[in-house]
Amino acid sequence: MTRHVVIAGGTGEIGKQLLALLATRTELSVRALVRRPGFTLVSPHIEEVPFDYEDAAAYITVFQSPCDLLFIALGTTRAKAGSDEAFLRVDRDYPMRLISALATLHPEAGVGLVSSVGADRGKGLYLGAKAAVESELSASGLAHVIARPSFLRSNRPEFRPLEVVINRLIAPLWLALGRGLFPRSRGWWRWAPVDVREVATALLGAALALEPGQRRILEGLDLHPGPIAQWGRP
Ligand SMILES: NC(=O)c1ccc[n+]([C@@H]2O[C@H](COP(=O)([O-])OP(=O)(O)OC[C@H]3O[C@@H](n4cnc5c(N)ncnc54)[C@H](OP(=O)(O)O)[C@@H]3O)[C@@H](O)[C@H]2O)c1
Repeated sequence: MTRHVVIAGGTGEIGKQLLALLATRTELSVRALVRRPGFTLVSPHIEEVPFDYEDAAAYITVFQSPCDLLFIALGTTRAKAGSDEAFLRVDRDYPMRLISALATLHPEAGVGLVSSVGADRGKGLYLGAKAAVESELSASGLAHVIARPSFLRSNRPEFRPLEVVINRLIAPLWLALGRGLFPRSRGWWRWAPVDVREVATALLGAALALEPGQRRILEGLDLHPGPIAQWGRP
């Protein structure tokens, strides 16, 4: 039976990886919500759906079609958004509206959410937004899996100075030390920079395997299969 998937944020760094993986799953029917149509689609079973995140009615319309699984990989930065309010709309409000509409129209569906390491503490603008979305998801009753990555490693075309410093200087050292000295350390791997492909692979696998009512968190070694594959599961 065909499973129906909706993805929000499919043009982002993790979202693109999720879509590339979804493209190989021909048993799925995928709708990718996009602000601007015309990004490269990689598979005939992925449909691009123009979506206005500011339009309250759009959240109902999109879920009037079947949806078994929703992926949310939306996000921006405070600098790019221009204000706290604009940042919160993208990182907090849009995901919460999607979750709320899905819970109303498809309470049996599952959700795969990209959140962030530290969301369980939830202080400040960024982590506060992530914590609010996680709380909404938890309260929704929807089965879900939440990925909480640390700094992302990707080939992002946009220049983000902090990511460049972390990816070029800190990540190689952090990962090498982890592999050599701390292959089983939950704390070390929780904060380790992680490749977007690893996040997408772990999130997709866990989301497709969700059982009704199940709740899962993926962080640390869940998102870094390398150390586990080489040195065994802690
Ligand atoms: N960067 C990190 O190191 C890091 C670490 C941990 C967690 N995270 C979290 O991981 C998630 C995914 O990160 P990412 O780096 O893959 O994201 P990204 O590359 O910045 O992509 C963000 C997605 O959100 C969409 N988006 C941005 N502004 C929007 C707006 N105003 N209205 C509607 N859609 C908008 C983008 O669509 P367009 O293509 O149309 O702009 C894109 O699809 C985010 O929630 C982020 O906070 C990031």
